[in-house]
Amino acid sequence: MKKVLTRTALATVLAFSAGTAFATVKVGFMLPYSGTYAKLGEAIENGFKLYVQEQGGKLAGQEVQYFKVDDESNPSKGPENANRLIKRDQVDILIGTVHSGVAMALAKAANDSDTTLIIPNAGADAITGPLCSKNVFRSSFSNWQPGYAMGSVAAEQGHKTAVTISWNYAAGKESTDGFKESFEKAGGKVVKHLTLPFPNVEFQPLLTEIASIKPDAVYTFFAGGGAVKFTQDYAAAGLKDSIPLLAAGFLTDGTLEAQGASAQGLLTTLHYADGLDTPRDNAFRENYKKNFPQLPPDVYAVQGYDAAQMLDAGLKAVNGDVSKKDAMREAIRNARIDSPRGEFTLSKAGNPVQDMYLRKVEGDVNKVVKVAVEKLADPARGCKL
Ligand code: PHB
Repeated sequence: MKKVLTRTALATVLAFSAGTAFATVKVGFMLPYSGTYAKLGEAIENGFKLYVQEQGGKLAGQEVQYFKVDDESNPSKGPENANRLIKRDQVDILIGTVHSGVAMALAKAANDSDTTLIIPNAGADAITGPLCSKNVFRSSFSNWQPGYAMGSVAAEQGHKTAVTISWNYAAGKESTDGFKESFEKAGGKVVKHLTLPFPNVEFQPLLTEIASIKPDAVYTFFAGGGAVKFTQDYAAAGLKDSIPLLAAGFLTDGTLEAQGASAQGLLTTLHYADGLDTPRDNAFRENYKKNFPQLPPDVYAVQGYDAAQMLDAGLKAVNGDVSKKDAMREAIRNARIDSPRGEFTLSKAGNPVQDMYLRKVEGDVNKVVKVAVEKLADPARGCKL
């Protein structure tokens, strides 16, 4: 029997054949919008939306529909918050998060539901290590990367002993472990690892201990609001001029205005820096400042921007059809991302292989000094992909 197509059915068929039938892609942001990492979440969202806006508001012909959850950097609420986006909102793609502990819960929920996840910050080594999986990617770094880069710099500078200090959770532990690995390989010694619970900022007793140990240098991981308080307390304790403070660049990224004099001159390592002065980075910074005049174009904004670029690469490969998960993921994994930080590729585990810059705080910028380690790949220990 001959079937007659109704007008709407015909329109649908035509739309499919024109490749425009998958009209929207649903993107779920799970980010901290409150607490010590609130500004980081905001910058990531800004960066992501900026890239989409530059593409005329669409990725691979798809309108982007946004959903948001404030994860409060609270790991215990991680599963519930992730499922708000996955089950309630039925998002196609998850973008999250900042805090490594929350990201572990998010990655598990993404795996259980076979949802594609792009992590725009959290560095938890395990996610691109033993827990690596085909649906999870990072546009950011592993916690090991900036720490490892700084350990080499510290040794190069002739430091023989160091104390490490950080919050007592995955990011702090893994960042300081990365530092210790390269510092000790080069003949240095980490004589003490000091910690306090996240997100506490009662640094005083620990600073007193540093003063009594008198190491050649201190290496630290802190970020966001806590980083501001740490540099201020370190300077106020009179340590800034006597014991060089070295850090993963998060210590001074997006925070310089609030840190004022306490951050001047600090040396840090990170996969982004001010003053790269490439056409790609200059264009990004100009447009970011135009859209968000109150905010510095920091590493978090870049990571959000690049998460959108990675998604775009995946969507283009499947003509916007998010149901073709395997092909989309393969395209993301094989993409070359033209990042403001410099071009990067992804490791098999889905983590950026990227230059680590040495930066120095000068005024309100983290001025690039040099590339500390070129094309540094996370070792992805335990990843079986
Ligand atoms: C993390 O928890 O992995 C983390 C948080 C903030 C940063 C960097 C890493 O700035």
